[in-house]
Amino acid sequence: MTATSHKPQKILITTAIDYANSVIHVGHAYEKILADCIARYYRKLLGEENVFFVTGTDEHGTSTYKAAQKAGEPVEEYTKRISQEDKKQIDSLNISYNRFICTTNKDHKQTASEFFEKALKSGAIYKGKYEGLYCEGCEAYKTLTELDENGKCPLHVSREIQKVEEENYFLKWANFTEDLKKLLETENFILPETKRNEMLGFLAQGLQDLPVSRPKYKVPWGIPVPGDEEQVIYVWYDALVNYYTAAKPAGFWEEEVKIVHFVGKDILRWHSLLWPAMLINLGLKIPSTIYTHGFVNLDGQKISKSLGNVIYPIDLVEKYGVDAVRYYFLKHGPITEDVDISLAHFEEVYNADLANGLGNTVARIAKMAENSGIRFEVKNWGEILGEEKLWEGKWSSPLAEYRVDLTLQKIWELLSQADKHINTHEPWAEKDPNKLREILEYEVNSIRYIAQVLEPFLPDTSAKIQEQFLKETVRTTNPLFVRL
Ligand code: MSP
Repeated sequence: MTATSHKPQKILITTAIDYANSVIHVGHAYEKILADCIARYYRKLLGEENVFFVTGTDEHGTSTYKAAQKAGEPVEEYTKRISQEDKKQIDSLNISYNRFICTTNKDHKQTASEFFEKALKSGAIYKGKYEGLYCEGCEAYKTLTELDENGKCPLHVSREIQKVEEENYFLKWANFTEDLKKLLETENFILPETKRNEMLGFLAQGLQDLPVSRPKYKVPWGIPVPGDEEQVIYVWYDALVNYYTAAKPAGFWEEEVKIVHFVGKDILRWHSLLWPAMLINLGLKIPSTIYTHGFVNLDGQKISKSLGNVIYPIDLVEKYGVDAVRYYFLKHGPITEDVDISLAHFEEVYNADLANGLGNTVARIAKMAENSGIRFEVKNWGEILGEEKLWEGKWSSPLAEYRVDLTLQKIWELLSQADKHINTHEPWAEKDPNKLREILEYEVNSIRYIAQVLEPFLPDTSAKIQEQFLKETVRTTNPLFVRL
């Protein structure tokens, strides 16, 4: 399959929206970079107006409410502040979202409330009593089998599991079992494929009715249940609707749109089983793909505030530059299993692939082209290198499965071919001016091609190289990446 063999007319790309309980770190940022690269690629392939990319913050719920209390700030101000800080972190990475949505936005509160009301009217939601366990870290109800041997949630061992006994509204989740089963079997609904079995296994255990509200006296921070001032909508039921709130008015929740949600492995269940059930119930379009990635760990440990090993994207960007950070994370690809990162490895990759690889080759060719005094005609360079259309070239085929890592490998192969071409043809020793022009033309055109296809990955670097090379007279500039 190639990225264009099933070229959609329009595409909606989303990331999970981050809890506003604390500022995001590089682990959260990884997902945004991955989704951004795919969004940028599709803008080139389909045109700007046919791509809509959404990210943002998930601001309601117990853990955010408690974080605000701990900080001694009114919860409205606290979430606003964290959301703005998250946005700064995301902006530092050059994330080209079309909308940064906050679940406290007026239109979202309205839409989430309508989703709830319609489900209530349809009979899929009813009022009852819940007795059980709740993990505030996951913002999710838990069964005993989901806890570890100490009775803690394995994802949030530093938190106590809450015993809850409360009135709630419930979703008749089990009613959707057959529809969900069919959906899970649809090609590409869950990617990578391996994750599909996990969800089928979960479904096979039987879905229980799910509480979709919390009593206001316990969780005062949420969207009120329509017609019941004593209850607020459960944070997941509220948050998932964000995609629809943002996309629908922009014309991106329509039949012809391909909808791709990028999410971490910890929240696949909500996206593949709850969100589609909510949509099926209202007769709305179902997402095309839930792309699931693993976790980024730092020096072999989970990234967490309590471990004191949090790295913020802005700090990395300030030290190494935005494209170095983007490259490092994209090079790992859409990670299926967890991946370990470290600053030492970051610097190794920076020196090898960016300072030596890309930076060096570009500088070398720019210097020879400038010294030659030759004018290099600017044509459609994709065609010259044997590709019909630049954005549908062979280099892009792994993008059909979101394999940004394999695509980067292909681009780096082109780079190394250009480098080898110089070494084989030794332009510095060439006396024949026609032959010299031919050799350098190949080099310059290769860099022109590479610079353009790099745009979705390293937008700033791509712009700098295009500025140098997409003119008849090629010029040298400062190094793109200074060796560390
Ligand atoms: N608010 C929910 C998502 C609601 S979407 C309708 C949530 N928020 S989160 O802040 O906990 O996580 C946001 C995203 O970041 C999730 O996809 C999560 O898997 C991802 N990551 C959080 N830590 C991560 C790593 N260390 N590595 C990779 N991704 C990580 O869940």
